[in-house]
Amino acid sequence: MSLLKQLNLTNLPSHIAIIMDGNGRWAKKKGLLRNLGHQSGAKTVREIVEVCAEINVKFLTLYAFSTENWNRPKLEVDLLMKLLISSLKKELNTLQKNNIKLATIGNIDSLPAKVSAELKDVVEKTKNNSRLTLTLALSYSSREELIKTIKEISLKVKNNLISPGNIDESVINNHLYTRSLPDVDLLIRTSGEQRISNFLLWQIAYAELYFTETLWPDFNKENLFEAILNYQNRERRFGKTSEQLK
Ligand code: FPP
Repeated sequence: MSLLKQLNLTNLPSHIAIIMDGNGRWAKKKGLLRNLGHQSGAKTVREIVEVCAEINVKFLTLYAFSTENWNRPKLEVDLLMKLLISSLKKELNTLQKNNIKLATIGNIDSLPAKVSAELKDVVEKTKNNSRLTLTLALSYSSREELIKTIKEISLKVKNNLISPGNIDESVINNHLYTRSLPDVDLLIRTSGEQRISNFLLWQIAYAELYFTETLWPDFNKENLFEAILNYQNRERRFGKTSEQLK
């Protein structure tokens, strides 16, 4: 029986972020080239996006390429970029049909021109969709995002547009790539690694963290339901006591 029946659909995480890890190990285990792991990972992306839209998760953010990933062999990076373009071309219709908005975070202009052009096109075409916001983190580094934010705010202080005393959480939030997203409720990392790897450091301040041994290409909707069930069984206290929450 599907775990879907056990979910409390009135207490879903509004924003799920996923560190999709393990494509390379999945391929290696099967004696395949790493790239086939990424291709299979792209199929998982499709399934997870679809199911999030179906159950009404409003925000899904996927770590697709970190700034550190530029250090991988050129062939792997090139094939990942190609996979991104072909997935975007293939999925535009599905995004439109399912009312899904595509957004990006990261240094999009550092991507190959073809990739950034394709991304900008899909972002523009889906910008009025409202069922689910799918955000791809590409050439993303959380520390870089924070440095960029600090520089922008400093400049505004220098130009007397903000006074230092007025800098608060909302000022910072409004300068991050994620300015139009709520905080992350549930962060999932696949493949058994238990690290954050420079992903949404500010935005996960109160997120529930969920680590699973499952490799990303093997992750499926039942695994997602399992993660959400686990989340629903936790008590999110936001610094308060259990008694205060009752
Ligand atoms: C991590 O596995 C995965 C990546 C660096 C790339 C993620 C890309 C995809 C899932 C495919 C395309 C994405 C979209 C949005 C269509 P790894 O290579 O680090 O695995 P390993 O740790 O086992 O080597």
